[in-house]
Amino acid sequence: MPQFTIDGRVMTVPDGATVLDAAQLAEIEIPTLCHLPGRPPETSCFVCLVRVEGIGRFLPACATRVTEGMVVHNASDEVRDARRTAIELLLSDHLGDCVAPCQGVCPAHMDIPKMMELTAKGQFRDAHIVVKQAIPLPAILGRVCPELCEKGCRRAAHDGSLSICMTKRFLADHDLETGDPYLPPMDPASGRSVAVVGAGPAGLSAAYYLRTLGHACVVYDDREAPGGMLRYGTSRDVLPLKVLDDEIALIERMGAVFRSGFRIGEQASVEELQQDCDTVILASGDAKSGGHGYEGVDRGPQGIKVDRRTLMTSRPGVFAAGGALLPLKHAIRALADGRIAAYSASEYMTGVHPGETDPGFSVHVGKLDADTVRPYLRFGSSDSRQTPEGGCSAGFTIAEVQREASRCLQCGCPVASTCSLRAASQEYGAQPLHFSGARREFGYDDSHPDIIFDSGKCTACGICVRIAAEGREELGVGFTGRGFDVRTSVPFSSAMVEGLRDVALACADACPTGALVRKTDL
Ligand code: SF4
Ligand code: SF4
Ligand code: SF4
Ligand code: FES
Repeated sequence: MPQFTIDGRVMTVPDGATVLDAAQLAEIEIPTLCHLPGRPPETSCFVCLVRVEGIGRFLPACATRVTEGMVVHNASDEVRDARRTAIELLLSDHLGDCVAPCQGVCPAHMDIPKMMELTAKGQFRDAHIVVKQAIPLPAILGRVCPELCEKGCRRAAHDGSLSICMTKRFLADHDLETGDPYLPPMDPASGRSVAVVGAGPAGLSAAYYLRTLGHACVVYDDREAPGGMLRYGTSRDVLPLKVLDDEIALIERMGAVFRSGFRIGEQASVEELQQDCDTVILASGDAKSGGHGYEGVDRGPQGIKVDRRTLMTSRPGVFAAGGALLPLKHAIRALADGRIAAYSASEYMTGVHPGETDPGFSVHVGKLDADTVRPYLRFGSSDSRQTPEGGCSAGFTIAEVQREASRCLQCGCPVASTCSLRAASQEYGAQPLHFSGARREFGYDDSHPDIIFDSGKCTACGICVRIAAEGREELGVGFTGRGFDVRTSVPFSSAMVEGLRDVALACADACPTGALVRKTDL
């Protein structure tokens, strides 16, 4: 029973225990990507590296037995750096997108593939709910959005990007036309209140999310009616008044209160607003030109200065968003800011983090051309880009929108929320392009009735190889090639359906990445 020290903690562990076993006993987290509990170590991933005093190199925790008096460092900066390097080496030979390119590019990070999937199936209400999670004014944005996401769409390399904006607009219009438009679930009243200054896109968005979190919210604006540049700076041909009013009315129905004829420094200062409520969100472009009333809120030539992550100003409890920060060309950016400011204000008031607005870590397949995009076309229909028969102002019909949505190649990764490689990448701040290599070849084997094999996402961890061997699969899976070029495949170039007859699901469940996935999880 050796006694050893890990991160300053003295422990006695069973004879033969590895550093990884010992850490698990002590509930100390060590990442692993090739470890199969209870089996001999594979030591192929090296993300479990630790520093053992007296040894001049890092050692893999999964393969290092604890000895008497050993001193192990698991959380030092150099250990974190070594693990990050191991992860980045794996990422340099990885072909996938954790987050679909369109979703990464969209300033509001809307889950576009999910919207497309549900729309293609005709589940318009559910698709609309996906939209509203990120974009509170989709009928409006569907008409004024610069379609940044479409510029990132993978299918553009083949026969034109998906009509993401027009699809979102269809869903929003369809919802408004039902006469029973969707209102998001709202938390019970929190007893907290927020003053939002500016009823343009950033302020409206902030109000929407504040109400979902149960906070009382008064939106002040100097103009007669809410909408900001959407009402006073947008052509009515582009954005009909009815669409604008209908979507703003939904935010009012959610309980936001609108007050017109208000200017900071005239009706009240920021300090006075703060006396009446718990937090303030400044979301009006006036901030840069307005004179007094902003005491304690640092401003620069562009607008209010903020912490880029939380959007809190130099005055505690006062946040800023949209045109108050800098001149914004696109309403979608203002909307995204409004959500961040609302979430930060909520966290400031309650101490509870309401959720992420950023989709998180992602590797990227990168830009594809007409040739390299071809293998991905299998994930979408062969229909060409749809044009509304009644013209753009009429929008899609039901048949058109379903055809358009079915073109989506579903570029995000189906295991993004459970992938161990992604989780480790996020935890260690890995940079996917730190070590850049040649793009790996795309390979997709869906011959098996229960699982798929997406070979570009395989890290050659060996877990499935061992499970197949233990399961006495006749062919099983094995490795070909050497070193960096080692690849997992079924012997004799056979398909997965031949290799994994009995243990396919066990392999998919144990695979640390999206290389082997149950078909039911796609
Ligand atoms: S397998 Fe993991 S790291 Fe690779 S694309 Fe999927 S989620 Fe991202
Ligand atoms: S094909 Fe679909 S998932 Fe892929 S980038 Fe385009 S819209 Fe996004
Ligand atoms: S396919 Fe097999 S070798 Fe590749 S990552 Fe998954 S479990 Fe590991
Ligand atoms: S080398 Fe230890 S888990 Fe992979």
